[in-house]
Amino acid sequence: MKTKIQKPRSLVITAGPTREHLDPVRFLSNPSTGKMGFAIAEVAAKRGYAVTLVAGPVQLATPKGVNRVDVTSAREMLAAVKDVLPADIFISTAAVADWRPKHRAAKKLKKHEMSATLELVRNPDILKSVTCDFKVGFAAETGDPSAEAARKCRAKKLKFIVANDVTEQGCGFGTATNRVTILRADGSVRPLPLLTKRAVAAKILDEIDGRRK
Ligand code: PMT
Repeated sequence: MKTKIQKPRSLVITAGPTREHLDPVRFLSNPSTGKMGFAIAEVAAKRGYAVTLVAGPVQLATPKGVNRVDVTSAREMLAAVKDVLPADIFISTAAVADWRPKHRAAKKLKKHEMSATLELVRNPDILKSVTCDFKVGFAAETGDPSAEAARKCRAKKLKFIVANDVTEQGCGFGTATNRVTILRADGSVRPLPLLTKRAVAAKILDEIDGRRK
């Protein structure tokens, strides 16, 4: 009898913040620690996915069995994601800076060389611009995230989006826990209770694996 060897499903995930430098010592960024994305990478690897994690600057150890690519800026993150795609699934948990300074100085700017006004240019939208049959996004909102998350889900052509209110106690940036709502492209809405980020990761993978409980 012949045994059929199944190739593991591949999953690419982004995590952490990006940094957009003005000069070597100054940058624009946000408080993302990478915990949410690393939890998904860890749980996915345990479930047998071939996981590539594209990480912004964070202080976390690489989960066992995960292939990690470190980047700093949004443009580097986009290049790294394009490099490792195609994959079966792309999950974007990274808090990507939407804007970067128009000019980046090679050396530390002296105070008298700086202006009180910073000129910015748009960064690429990584999630929107990459092609993958199964794209999952996150929506970080301040206040009820559902309406804005549903808009992002449609605009970025996602299978589903994971919405969190980052102002809520125990949720969002840097916390060990999160309370999220999963909104699917078909309009279904699944609010989840406050859970550890690892438990949220498991629920997201259940959603992908069609094991919704
Ligand atoms: O890292 P932690 O400290 O654990 O915090 C977790 C988290 C708060 C960062 C996470 O739960 C979360 O909400 N991640 C999404 C952050 C975000 O940038 O959300 P957004 O609503 O601004 O973006 C919508 C989606 O587009 C996201 O999937 C984002 O990764 C993606 N995006 C946004 C802008 C951009 N230029 N490129 C993108 O790919």
